[in-house]
Amino acid sequence: MNFHKITDRDLSYFEQLLPGNCFAQAEVLEAYAHDETEDLHFMPEVVLKPSTTEEVSAILKYCHEHGICVTPAGGRTGLSGGMLPVFGGVIMSMEKFNRILDIDERNHQVTTEPGVITQVLQNTLKERGLMYPPDPSSKGSCFIGGNVSENSGGPKAVKYGVTKDYVLNLEVVLPTGEIIWTGANVLKNATGYNLTQLMVGSEGTLGVITKIVLRLIQHPTQDLLMLVPFFDAQKACEAVAQIFQAGVTPSGLEFMERDAILWTLPYEPDTVIEVKDNHQAHLLIEVDGFDQEILMKECEKIMEVLAGFDTDEILFAESQAQKEQLWKLRRKVGEAVKSHSIYKEEDTVVPRYELPKLLALVKAVGKKYGFTSVCYGHAGDGNLHVNIIKGDLTDEFWNEGLSVAIAEIFEGVVKLGGTISGEHGIGLVQRQYMPIAFPGVQLDLMRAIKRAFDPKGILNPGKIF
Ligand code: LAC
Ligand code: ZN
Repeated sequence: MNFHKITDRDLSYFEQLLPGNCFAQAEVLEAYAHDETEDLHFMPEVVLKPSTTEEVSAILKYCHEHGICVTPAGGRTGLSGGMLPVFGGVIMSMEKFNRILDIDERNHQVTTEPGVITQVLQNTLKERGLMYPPDPSSKGSCFIGGNVSENSGGPKAVKYGVTKDYVLNLEVVLPTGEIIWTGANVLKNATGYNLTQLMVGSEGTLGVITKIVLRLIQHPTQDLLMLVPFFDAQKACEAVAQIFQAGVTPSGLEFMERDAILWTLPYEPDTVIEVKDNHQAHLLIEVDGFDQEILMKECEKIMEVLAGFDTDEILFAESQAQKEQLWKLRRKVGEAVKSHSIYKEEDTVVPRYELPKLLALVKAVGKKYGFTSVCYGHAGDGNLHVNIIKGDLTDEFWNEGLSVAIAEIFEGVVKLGGTISGEHGIGLVQRQYMPIAFPGVQLDLMRAIKRAFDPKGILNPGKIF
């Protein structure tokens, strides 16, 4: 793709439009050259930090007219390279859009700007007894706008759903500079195509989100948490669907392979768990609600299911502090595995009941190609994060052969009724595998949608397909 390189004239336009919020110094550009995806690095030519919808509109209008590419950026915690400025150009950082505009307690809705940190939003709502459930592991630093763009999930998704299930309406600036609202602030909407849901998960390729209206729920007041060691990882996966079949919907049902915990414990030394030599995997199971007695009964049902499996002694979190420790450990796994070795992370997802087959598939492909993997993730959603470890593998295999193995995993995933990303998105790093998830007809439809929104292809080019 050919984009116009930014000239001094362009820079003076941006400086005059955004006094003090236009950055071309190397140190600033460097900070926006990467997210949390592997060690990928692409330098933008300029970083712009608008703070109003009108400024976003003026930037896009100018860039559309001049053929300059623009990549929107949030908290830069993405795991598929969605914000990487692969063709240089403008990074449009949404960090100044950091206000929660209106908490509508009468309607259980919030209107927020996209640059609010997800956990800040959640904590603010919790003070009013309200909950916005989607809680990716990066919730302490990711932006709600990035969550909408990637359709983020997290552990609570298993009971409460993912980002898409909460987005009611969006203010969006189109790549041509026009400003639209995609829907209405209502719980039901059967009015035309659903542009709101089209924007959710579109990874910043169709428009720049400037306001977000979310539906909220009452915040649960009680929860119980247990950690269950299994001697056989496959069996841990088998237990997952059975828990739901017994009539319980946990508010978290996470799977962690042995190494996922062992490699994370040094970062969370206060966590009191013993990983014995024969523990192959753990399930972290949470139930929540408003009535302790009901939760106890749900735990009993879970225990009845677990009695059918060969598990070691179950740890029930005894205090709030212990619950927080266990969740902190779980949320840290991704980062810990990354610091341990060069890696590639996949975000496979299958219908829940197929989870044991997914784990077996990943291990069988690993055996065939000679790699080890550390698996963990949202077992209740059938969503397994697969970290392929470079270890002693040759650079040649890593750079050329590995994609064949990954394609084999993805083909198996699709055969199991699943798909290639559950919650991290396609972005840059998974785009080569899109033809495994979708045949040509669907990809052509998606490309036509992209052209309808962005005729010159200036917005976040090089992503998804
Ligand atoms: C997690 C992120 C990596 O589940 O999705 O921790
Ligand atoms: Zn995850």
